[in-house]
Amino acid sequence: MRVFGLVMVGLVSTVTLALGQAGKDVNAGVYTAAQATRGVAVFDDKCAACHDAARFTGPDFVKGFSGKPLHDLWDAVNTMPEDNPGSLTPQQYADVIAYFLKLNEYPEGKEELAGTPEAMKAITMQPKTP
Ligand code: HEC
Repeated sequence: MRVFGLVMVGLVSTVTLALGQAGKDVNAGVYTAAQATRGVAVFDDKCAACHDAARFTGPDFVKGFSGKPLHDLWDAVNTMPEDNPGSLTPQQYADVIAYFLKLNEYPEGKEELAGTPEAMKAITMQPKTP
């Protein structure tokens, strides 16, 4: 029964992939390791003066955005830095989000998270699947 369940999960993932990006969530490997590393540098340079990274880690942070498109978090980070909103490139904002996903132990993938509203809308924030 357990094996059957795993096969079903495999099938559903394959179908989802075949349909393209639609319906992905953050458990699907939506950023790369290199991107998250770049995000650390952006965060240290542009965000760390006001924020401890711990603030963007853990169940409370994830819960606030769960079930919503990653675009909600994208909107939030685009209002930052508070003293100079929108001053980063779209790629830098996406890199910071990749870093937040890594902080919350979501799996890395093969493709970078794109810094576009379309890409952010197509991915849903969800609690980490065990
Ligand atoms: C000059 C200080 C300052 C800098 C620099 C700054 N922030 Fe903020 N940030 C704030 C304040 C103030 C708030 C609102 C109060 C709070 O939620 O802590 C906030 C809130 C946030 C939130 C919460 C939004 C929400 O809905 O929960 C996020 C996410 C965020 N900042 C991300 C960033 C990122 C990413 C950077 C770097 C690109 C950054 N901040 C840089 C001051 C700053």
